[in-house]
Amino acid sequence: MLRGALAAVGLGLAAAWLLGDGGFDPRTWFLSSSRNRLLRPGELSRYTGMPGSAGLYLAVLGRVFDVQRGHRHYGPGGAYSSFSGKDASRAFVTGDFTEAGLVDDVSGLSPSEMLTIQNWLSFYNKNYILVGKVIGRFYDEHGAPTRALKQAEADIEEGLKLKAEGDEMKKQFPPCNSEWSSTSGSRVWCSKESGGVKREWTGVPRQLYKPGSRSSQCVCVRTTGLPSAQSDSGKHRTRSDLDSPNLQEYEGCHPLADWCVLKA
Ligand code: HEM
Repeated sequence: MLRGALAAVGLGLAAAWLLGDGGFDPRTWFLSSSRNRLLRPGELSRYTGMPGSAGLYLAVLGRVFDVQRGHRHYGPGGAYSSFSGKDASRAFVTGDFTEAGLVDDVSGLSPSEMLTIQNWLSFYNKNYILVGKVIGRFYDEHGAPTRALKQAEADIEEGLKLKAEGDEMKKQFPPCNSEWSSTSGSRVWCSKESGGVKREWTGVPRQLYKPGSRSSQCVCVRTTGLPSAQSDSGKHRTRSDLDSPNLQEYEGCHPLADWCVLKA
């Protein structure tokens, strides 16, 4: 039996070499053929790591990974065993590990939620072995991407764009530090690392109202230098963004204080 299997593999390797361009690498051949398996959901469901099962697989956005080396997480009794043998992409972002939540339908998720799923996909690509694709929502019978996958990828692109804008905004207006105590109430303040943004300047607290939002968040604003929006080339050239229309001072707080106590 074993001899037969070895002979078949040997024959396959020889044929691939003969048909190829001579630069044949058996390792590449083996890896690429083993990463291109197409599994139906029923077949995938046999890979739960249960005794006698075919192995331990899970799928994200239709891509199947062998997670055997994470057996303690995904195997029977593991905290994340409900991910095994299926594509439960949605649960990676909702945290809903019920039967209704463990599904591959990602419609209605926001671009930033789709980005979370993409981050999990990168995690599995980096840490586990790609086996192939599931035929169904994201890949068709031939392994070609479906409209659902293309939509998911477009949402991920949008999520990346929004994240880049958010990161840029965070550099301009880093979040404040804050604390609360029952005796003195809430206090917000700025430091050279507040909001996780390391910088040369400290800034002063302001309420930032994002366009279209009624709630505000505390951000630190530079007090000197040019405004970020170069179009604002009027008289306030050296007050940085302090005169931005989306910012509001805290009531009862000196406009240049680097901390403020918030009124209840
Ligand atoms: C949406 C919710 C969550 C999802 C989808 C999720 C998913 C996962 C997955 C898939 C793993 C295994 C990663 C691997 O293969 O190495 C993992 C590990 C882990 N998760 Fe979660 N998780 C969630 C929430 C949480 C929460 C709320 C906590 C803590 C309160 C937590 C704590 C941990 C810890 C400590 C590990 C590592 C365990 C170890 O290495 O032994 N997770 N998580």
